[in-house]
Amino acid sequence: MTSDFWNGRSVLITGISGFLGAWLARTLVDRKAQVVGLDQEPTGALALHGDLEEQVRVVPGNVCSVDDVARALDQSGARTCFHLAGQSMIDPNGRSPFSRRSSSTRRFSGSPTCQLHP
Ligand SMILES: NC(=O)c1ccc[n+]([C@@H]2O[C@H](COP(=O)([O-])OP(=O)(O)OC[C@H]3O[C@@H](n4cnc5c(N)ncnc54)[C@H](O)[C@@H]3O)[C@@H](O)[C@H]2O)c1
Repeated sequence: MTSDFWNGRSVLITGISGFLGAWLARTLVDRKAQVVGLDQEPTGALALHGDLEEQVRVVPGNVCSVDDVARALDQSGARTCFHLAGQSMIDPNGRSPFSRRSSSTRRFSGSPTCQLHP
């Protein structure tokens, strides 16, 4: 991968407001990528990275919703997607394991979204 690989590249990051998503956004913005995020939370960890919030666009939505994912893909025009949305906290996962499975495991692969955007 050349050093300018990300320059101008449109990238979608699900879970961009989370710990890993925000760090990935920071890394890609520093490499001049056009970063769009999909997250059910508007800011989260993005706020910990200085002016990063002003350098990315966050599409609010749920990765379990085909419509939300399709909207984010359409708005970003991304050909590259990093899927980091997931419920990482132990307590909520224990209380709601089905919800965790939906966002963390089923992901895009088992949903019609893959058929819309193969
Ligand atoms: N941080 C780590 O060290 C680590 C290690 C191994 C695996 N992981 C996995 O990587 C992923 C990201 O980790 P993290 O530390 O950034 O977690 P995080 O909790 O900080 O961020 C997760 C983000 O995903 C979003 N999200 C959750 N469910 C969603 C849904 N249905 N639709 C849209 N957005 C949703 C949350 O709002 C949050 O912003 C998780 O799946 C986690 O289990 C993390």
